[in-house]
Amino acid sequence: MQQETMREVISRKSLEKRVDDLGKEISRDYAGRDLVLMTVLGGAFIFAADLCRSIGIDCSIDFVRVASYGAGTDSAGTIRLVQAPSLAVAGKDILLVEDIVDTGLTLQWLCRYFRRQEAASVKLCALVDKKQRREVALEPDYVGFTLDQGFLVGYGLDFAERYRNLPAIYTLQDEAARASKASAA
Ligand code: IMP
Ligand code: MG
Repeated sequence: MQQETMREVISRKSLEKRVDDLGKEISRDYAGRDLVLMTVLGGAFIFAADLCRSIGIDCSIDFVRVASYGAGTDSAGTIRLVQAPSLAVAGKDILLVEDIVDTGLTLQWLCRYFRRQEAASVKLCALVDKKQRREVALEPDYVGFTLDQGFLVGYGLDFAERYRNLPAIYTLQDEAARASKASAA
């Protein structure tokens, strides 16, 4: 593991505190509703696992996975569902739990998908909001951290499937430089 190219940007302690606060806020807002935490795999798996344990109201947990064509560090904009939810979502209050909102294309696509399935409501909870790179008008309803510090890994976030197991969030300095050159090209 190339630890020397990483800089910690969100500590384990800050993650714990912020995720716990989000869970409490969600518990208050969704009291008496039919909440489904719809986790977007794979990046949100650790976030969702911690978040659901800070939620004190009844809720269900389900998973979706989408793929965007094209590899690398940017979503390419063409999205397809590779794992559909297993619960019937009509009439449910869907809270999409996502690791990062970057261009916003993935969450925009998922919102439309769940609205078409006649969810009672669709809201968005993102651990990290990279606001400056947004390409579509989309504001998550719950945000852990607003950050624009290159490419992030750890706490579920990967670079080519690596680093998901790191307990804090780091910026990959060399990869970030390469990614921004690639997207400028
Ligand atoms: P969007 O469609 O551009 O908003 O892409 C969001 C998806 O891109 C997220 O779900 C992540 O999987 C991935 N992503 C964007 N930025 C990062 C990052 O810094 N680290 C890891 N994954 C990222
Ligand atoms: Mg993701």
